[in-house]
Amino acid sequence: MNMSEMDENEEILQKMIQFTSKSLRHISMKEHYRVIMELGSGSYGHVLQVEHKVQDKAMALKLMRKKSTKKERFLMEYCVSLCLSSHPNIIGTLRVAFETNKYYAFAQELATAGDLYSILEPGVGLPEMMVKRCAMQLAEALDFVHSKALVHRDVKLDNILIFDKDCHLVKLADFGITRLEGFLLSPMSGTLPYSAPELCSLEESETLELDSSLDVWAFGVLIFCISSGCFPWDTALCKDKQYEDFALWQSNQDYLEIPSPWKQFTHQALDMFQKLLTINPDKRRPAIEIQKYLKVPWKISSIKDNNNMLDNSKYMEESVDNINFLQDNVGNERTSTKTSSMISEDSSPINSSAQGATWEDQRPSLDE
Ligand SMILES: Nc1ncnc2c1ncn2[C@@H]1O[C@H](COP(=O)(O)OP(=O)(O)OP(=O)(O)O)[C@@H](O)[C@H]1O
Ligand SMILES: [Mg+2]
Repeated sequence: MNMSEMDENEEILQKMIQFTSKSLRHISMKEHYRVIMELGSGSYGHVLQVEHKVQDKAMALKLMRKKSTKKERFLMEYCVSLCLSSHPNIIGTLRVAFETNKYYAFAQELATAGDLYSILEPGVGLPEMMVKRCAMQLAEALDFVHSKALVHRDVKLDNILIFDKDCHLVKLADFGITRLEGFLLSPMSGTLPYSAPELCSLEESETLELDSSLDVWAFGVLIFCISSGCFPWDTALCKDKQYEDFALWQSNQDYLEIPSPWKQFTHQALDMFQKLLTINPDKRRPAIEIQKYLKVPWKISSIKDNNNMLDNSKYMEESVDNINFLQDNVGNERTSTKTSSMISEDSSPINSSAQGATWEDQRPSLDE
C-alpha cells in the first residue's frame, strides 16, 4: 500500500468517526435489551450477552465506561471493527452504537463457544488439526487487516473468538488498540509475552513505527501457545533465558542444539516458526506464509498420523461449509470460564488479561 492509499484510509476512518459521533444516540439499555450473561470484563467495562427485546436477537454488547474511555477511543474501535467486519474470520460488528449515562456501547455478533483461552488446558496443546485450522483462519484475518494498512496490536488467546469447540470457525476480535501502520508506539505497549523484541527493547525516550510485522510475531507466539499450552517465554528480552536460548539458536542453528521447548516440533514446523519469529522485523515473513506448511506435520508426536496433514484446498472447502453451517445454527453453547492459569515446567504460565473482578462485583445497572 502506497502513501496516498494510506492517507485515503486515514481520511475515510476520520470521516466515519465524525459521522458516527454526530449520530450517536443516547438510550436507556434497560428499555431495549435483556441481559443474558457477562462474557468478559476488565478495566474498560464489560462485554455482555444480550437479547434485543423487540427483535429477540442474541448479540454481544461491548460497554465502555465513560469515566475511563475517551469518546474518540470508543468511536475509533467501533469504526475500525465495522470496517473490518466483512471478513469471515473477523468478528462481525453490527451497525448498532449508542451511549447511556455511564457507558459507550456497540454491538457485535455473538461468538457462541467463547475464546481460545477458555479451551486451552495448562501445558496441554490443542490437537494438531485444530491448531492448523486456527492458524489458517487467523492468518487470513491478519492478511485482511494488514491489506488495509491496519495493525491489530493485540493478537492473543482471549482475543480469538470461537464458534464451536473444534475451532472450525474462529474469528479475530478486539480492535481496541488497532491503529494504522506508521503510528508511533512508546515503550511497553501491548501484551508482554506476545510482544516482539523490537518493542520489548525500546528505551524510554524511543518510539517505534507501527508495522504489521508486530502482529506476525504475536501470531507466531500464539501458534506456540495453542500447540503446547505454554508460552515460549515471558518477555522477548535477552535477560529472559528461554528467549535468549531461542534467539541464539535462531542465529547459529548449525552449531547449537534446538532449545528444549522447541524440541516437540518437526523441522518443517521449526522452519515456519523461524519465519514468523524472525528477530529482524524487516525479514519477518507475513502470517499467510503458514499456508505452505499445512500439509506437513508440526508436532513430532503426530508424524505418523496422516489426519493431521491439512490440505489447503480441502481446508478451504471444509471452512466454507463450516462457516455456512455454523452461521445458520448459532447455539448458546459456552465452554469453561477463564479461571485457571497455565503452568508448565519448561515454559511460562499462560494467563489472561481478561480475568478481572467478578461479575457480581461490577455488574452494570441497565438503568444507568
Ligand atoms: N462478540 C463476542 N462474543 C462472545 N464473547 C465475546 C465477544 N466479544 C468479547 N467476548 C468476550 O469478552 C472478552 C473481552 O472482550 P474484548 O477482548 O473485546 O475486551 P477487551 O478490550 O479485551 O478488554 P481488556 O483487554 O481490557 O480485558 C473476550 O476475551 C471474550 O471472552
Ligand atoms: Mg481483549
